[in-house]
Amino acid sequence: MSIIDEIKKKAHASIKRIVLPEGDEPRTIRAAAKLRDEELAFPILLGDPEKILSTARTCGMDLREITIINPPDSPDFPRYTQLLYELRRGKGMTLENAGTLTADPMYYAVLMVKCGDADGLVSGAAHTTGDMLRPALQIIKTKAGTKLVSSSFLVECPKKDVGQNGLLIFSDCVVVPCPTAEELAHIAVSAADTAHTLCGIEVPKVALLSFSTKGSASHELVTKVRQAAEIAHSLAPDLLLDGELQLDAALAPEVAALKAKDSPVAGAANVLIFPDLQAGNIGYKLVQRLAGAEAFAVLQGLAKPCNDLSRGCSVEDIVNTVSITAVQAQA
Ligand code: ACO
Repeated sequence: MSIIDEIKKKAHASIKRIVLPEGDEPRTIRAAAKLRDEELAFPILLGDPEKILSTARTCGMDLREITIINPPDSPDFPRYTQLLYELRRGKGMTLENAGTLTADPMYYAVLMVKCGDADGLVSGAAHTTGDMLRPALQIIKTKAGTKLVSSSFLVECPKKDVGQNGLLIFSDCVVVPCPTAEELAHIAVSAADTAHTLCGIEVPKVALLSFSTKGSASHELVTKVRQAAEIAHSLAPDLLLDGELQLDAALAPEVAALKAKDSPVAGAANVLIFPDLQAGNIGYKLVQRLAGAEAFAVLQGLAKPCNDLSRGCSVEDIVNTVSITAVQAQA
């Protein structure tokens, strides 16, 4: 079974409430109806109900049993405004600013999740990654034991002799543009957690990637990756990880035997940590475009699950991302 089918099966087993702040966006409306019909989540759409219902009619969708909330009209609006004010007044927020932001569905959705009135959120069909992430970073914050929010891609390759039967975790490809050694270490530990808890990979094997393998090149960028591996090892002493490793040494047993024969992960890595966001973002798009891999994004390190979509997403992409979010919420 593919990773996304496994995730949908888990989502169906214990259905979660997922808020979709871009409630009047046509692909989101179609996805909400599909999620309801396939019993993958209880979707909550935010926005002006008249506009949502009229868009749904134009799309030929019925929205029965789907909750629609217009933030400014909601009985929870004053409570959320007060909470936002309390959380952010130290950063200069006034009660008036808090009211204006709470009326914005992107903030309202995050406040619903913060208060436990929804189990997770998915947005980004009509907003940039930064616009989607900032309210979550400011309000939901990181989970205990993590200092950093980052991302993983669940990459399912047609080539089944890499990773776990073709499944690899790539991190970070979305959030942290230029991680320090310490941030890279946190990304590595979070990605191993995603591999285990979301993807069911029993033994994550984490490779911190570079253009050098075990000292074959000297450069400050290589030193940073090596330091990150040391920090990650001190954060999670039982985790199988190694760095710095080149990609071929991480994945191919014959190269690992030549270049890193004592490594606990070389030749068998299933979690790949990229040294910065440019490498990670280019890396996952390469395997997607050239190798025909399927790639599913997930944010990691937030105290409650929130996930981002690409603005070019399809209805199926939204259904998949909501299913992933629902499974994160189960954990
Ligand atoms: N983890 C935890 N907290 C964070 C993180 C992080 N990675 N980044 C920022 N924060 C916190 C800050 O500490 C701050 O908290 P505070 O206000 O309580 O003090 C809050 O979030 C806002 O921080 P800013 O510095 O104002 O936010 P910034 O403008 O730097 O935005 C963002 C952060 C959105 C994550 C930024 O780094 C970014 O845009 N990253 C790249 C996103 C992107 O474009 N990705 C590529 C495309 S996606 C794709 O291809 C699939």
